[in-house]
Order: sequence, then C-alpha cells, then structure tokens
Amino acid sequence: MCGIVGYVGPGSSIDVLLGGLKRLEYRGYDSAGVAILDESGELATRKRAGKLSVLTDDLQEAPIADGRTGIGHTRWATHGGPTDGNAHPHLGDGGRLALIHNGIIENFAELKQELLDAGEAFESETDTEVAALLVGRAYRETGDLQAALRSVVNRLDGAFTLLVMHRDEPGVVVGARRNSPLVIGLGDGENFLGSDVAAFVEHTRRAMEIGQDQLVAIRPDSVEVTDFAGAPVEAKEFEVAWDASAAEKGGWPSFMKKEISEEPDAVANTLRGRIVDGAVVLPELEPLAGALADIDRIIVIACGTASYAGMLGKYAIEAWARVPVDVELSHEFRYRDPVLTSRTLVVSVSQSGETMDTLMAVKYAREAGARTLSICNAQGATIPRESDAVLYTHAGPEVAVASTKAFVAQATALYLLALHLAEVRGVSTEEQAAERLEELQALPEKLAAVVESSSARIAELAGWMGDTQSVLFLGRHVGYPIALEGALKLKELAYIHAEGFAAGELKHGPIALIEPGQVVFVVVPSPREPSSLHPKVVSNIQEIRARGARVIAIAELGDVAVVPFADEVIRIPLAAPLVEPLLAVVPLHIFGMELAAAKGLDVDQPRNLAKSVTVE
Ligand code: F6R
Repeated sequence: MCGIVGYVGPGSSIDVLLGGLKRLEYRGYDSAGVAILDESGELATRKRAGKLSVLTDDLQEAPIADGRTGIGHTRWATHGGPTDGNAHPHLGDGGRLALIHNGIIENFAELKQELLDAGEAFESETDTEVAALLVGRAYRETGDLQAALRSVVNRLDGAFTLLVMHRDEPGVVVGARRNSPLVIGLGDGENFLGSDVAAFVEHTRRAMEIGQDQLVAIRPDSVEVTDFAGAPVEAKEFEVAWDASAAEKGGWPSFMKKEISEEPDAVANTLRGRIVDGAVVLPELEPLAGALADIDRIIVIACGTASYAGMLGKYAIEAWARVPVDVELSHEFRYRDPVLTSRTLVVSVSQSGETMDTLMAVKYAREAGARTLSICNAQGATIPRESDAVLYTHAGPEVAVASTKAFVAQATALYLLALHLAEVRGVSTEEQAAERLEELQALPEKLAAVVESSSARIAELAGWMGDTQSVLFLGRHVGYPIALEGALKLKELAYIHAEGFAAGELKHGPIALIEPGQVVFVVVPSPREPSSLHPKVVSNIQEIRARGARVIAIAELGDVAVVPFADEVIRIPLAAPLVEPLLAVVPLHIFGMELAAAKGLDVDQPRNLAKSVTVE
C-alpha cells in the first residue's frame, strides 16, 4: 500500500526513483510523484494521478532538473481521492521541504485543526500533508531535519513510513517508520531507502532492516539509525537473496503469467535444504524449540489467499501432527477476545510480511502470551521481526498483485511445519515421514507438468467465456480452500461474481444459484483412497449437472468415473490427498488470469487493489 523510494548519491535521482517506483508499483498505482533537489539547490516536485506511466510521460515531455537527492512515491489512496493534488510528495516549510508517506495518520483531524488555527493552509485532502506541515514548522525551529522529524513522529497516531528532504540539507533523506515498512539499501557512495528491497535491488543487494519506531538518515557516505528518542541503534545488515532480474518480466506478457510458471520453483526453493537424510530440518524454529512439543493448539492467522494456504496447513497439521488448528482471518482474530495461552502457537502467513491486519494480530497474540511463528516470503519485513521465529518461503519476488506462487510456497512451508511437529511430538513413524516427504519432493515436477498440460486448454476455455457473469467453484476437504482460491482470483482479476463452496454445502442453499449454463469448476478428489470423498463429489456434480450447470472438473489422470458427468476435464498428475490441491490450484490460477486477459483487463494490477495492504 503505497511504495516509497529515497535516494542520495551521484547518480541520476530521477532514474533511480522512477526505476524504484516501477518495481514498487504493485503496492499502489493510483497516482505517483517525485521530489528532486537539483544542483542549483532548488526543490522541484512533479506528481500525477494515474499509473506511474502518466508521471513518466509527463516528466519526459516537461523534464525537471535532475539532482543527487530525491524521494518518490506511488500511491494507493486512503485520505482523499487519487488526484494530482492528493498525490505525494506534499510540501512544508513554504515549499522548502518535501515529504512522502505510507500508512494512515489516525489523529490527522485534530492535528489539521491545530495547523489551521496556526494559520497554515492545506493544498490537499490527505492526512500526509499534516505531517509535511508539522515537520516544516519543526524545521523552522530546529534547523535540523532529523531533529524536526523526530519531534513530530511521537505526535502521530497510526501507521506511517515517512521520508522527508529539505532544500537546505542537500544530500540527506530522513525516514521514520512505525507499523509500516522501510528498508535501507547500502550502495558505494550512494544509499537508498525503499518500502521493500525491490526499490533498489537493481543498484545493490546489500540491505539493512529498520526496526519499529526508528529513524534513519541516509547520506551518500553514511547511514545513521536511531530510535525515536535519538539513541543510536545498531541496524542488522542482510544480503537480498535474489537479483533484479528475478523481479523483471523477462519477456513474459505479464508478471502473473511468469509467476504461475514459477510455481514449481517456488515449491522447490521452499523445500530446498530443509529435507536432510529423510528428515525435515528447520533450524529457523530453534527459538521455539522448547515450546513446540508442548503446544496444545495452533491458530493460523492470515488474510485472503494466505488464509487459504492456512486452511491447507490445518488439514496437514491435524492429520500428521494431531494438534488442533483453527484458521482465522487476521482482522477478525483479535476483536473476539480469543483464548490464548503460552501453549498456543499462533502461525501468521503473509507473503509481504507487512499486511497490517496480520501484523496487529501477531502483536496481540504475543502480548497475550502466545508463541508466534511467521511464514513469510519477503525478507526484512515487519511481521517476521515481530514474531518469535520465522520460516521463510523462498518463492522469490511476487510482483503481480494477485498471489499465485506465494500460495503454493506458503502451503509447502506449512506442510514442512506439520511434518516437523509430527516428529517432535513423536506421532509419526519414520515410514510415514519418508512417504510424505517423498510426495512433497515430487511436487515441483508435477506442478511443472500441470502448467505445461493445462495452460493452452484453460486459455481456450477462458477465451470463450469473456461474457460470463458468474462462475462457481466447488471442492471438499482440501479441495475446499482451492475452490475459495479459484473464486477469489476470478473476482479480483476478472471482476465477475465468483463464489467458492464446500461441495457438501451446496444442497443447503447455494444450489439455488444453478441455472442452465452456469459454469462450475469442481475440484475432484482422487478415487484411489479407500475413504475418498470422490463418490460424494461425483454425486454433487450430477446434482448440478441435472440443473443445467456447465461443469469443468479438475481431476487426476485416469479418473474415468467423472468423465460422463463433466463438460470438460482438466487433468492433474496423481498425488497424495493432501498434496493434490496444490496441483489443482494451478489451472484455477491460469483461468483467473486468462479470463481477465480475455476481457482486456490489467492482469498484474487489478483495479482498487494493492499488493501489500498496510492499512487496517
Ligand atoms: C489475493 C491476494 C490477497 C493476499 C492478502 C494477504 O490474490 O493476493 O488476498 O493474499 O492480501 O497478503 P499477504 O500474504 O501479503 O499478507
């Protein structure tokens, strides 16, 4: 939600900022702006409503002077609509100071009144301008940008990353963060700030974390981190695990298409190094080592697609480790006064590691005495830092707003956790563990086979469905989260009504939706298991078929029982029941993408959304 870049150094600020914003555009794309301090000491800003390309074109037509100090912003509107005037940067100190912001300043109304009473005039409807004017006033008193920002941050309630520069302090960008992301990029004679490492990975892979309630000042040759009281802080340096090319489209028509094709690698990389001599090895869980054998309950908290991965984790953890698991939406979790003890393990699942709802839920759980584990994809993100331990998924950067490869990686990490728990709690035999691990290790190859075999046919089906108004998705057991995921992808990408149902629930109401021609995707479980739900799902298919539904079944190779009842069968390779859903999800990811493409929509940046939801 809003992308932020800061730069000080000898390079072209405009190039660095626009390059960084391009990589951060997934975070928000309704307006963008830059502020540059040029060689003559003038502070110039340019900001435009619309996607980043509008700003880029504008700068090409009417360039502003380049310089060595700059900040840039791509916005996802909260306070005030997406207009030129509400776009960032906002100015303070009579236009001598520029400030950008990610987050929400909750007490902005009272601060605004205070500023109006003091005679300040506002040019936008944003909460951000309050911060710009306050820091500007503080600068007039202190003449020191760090001190000015420090004096303001403690007056702000809510979530914020702020970057600020002043024309009287060339070569300095000062940033502060509370409940919102900011990382430092360490260059050679130049330094960077960004909402995530993608902002600067093109220039450096050396990065530094900034903790909660900390302030940073970057200059070309130095980086200074302090807490909000001004005490120096030793920031942790890390190496970004991927290079800039991983976040490039690289010839693919969309990031989403590229990322679906990377689902096999996302799983393989999440497994890599974690299976040694037939056992799961997760040294990252060391901080929880003493606790894991004793936990009596797990609560998985997450939002959207990540919560569906959490549901898959529930099936695996309960089946393999025999620990009761609840899966809750993060934003509901802490408002119902949940019962948490030191024997509760709260597992958060988040691709970005910045989702505010999940972050707040993690903090709540920790304060209530529960143990916390983060499953996260983005290095240096906030949620892992706020948790007792972190299990990183290694899906690589996910740029398309709709999550795909991160989903399969999250489920894989949860399955590894389930196997680890089963082992430390002594509830699985060596043979069982070996069999399950073998299934997981075979997954990347099978995923690649599904991408290969289903892409063309799904694209064809989607191509015929450009006018479809509604699609339903059915699944049972582990197929149910997949039905939910298929429906979510379609809503967010193709903007059509889509619902996922547990197939058994159909007869309790939703079957009334079925009318002739209604398209229904059905995730069909394998018929090979003795206790398989296969016959029941085939009955469900018959029930909807009898009412005119057009059924697209996703079924394993060799399942002939489903053929007479389906209009179309998409085949997936044979896999164990808990692993199968990770194969079934691929055609649904492809379908969401292809239907959106068939409707001429922007697959990577669907309307109204942002990838990293850093507001509650
Ligand atoms: C859907 C999607 C979202 C995210 C959700 C959580 O395609 O991407 O539903 O899964 O906003 O985001 P993270 O995983 O970053 O916490």
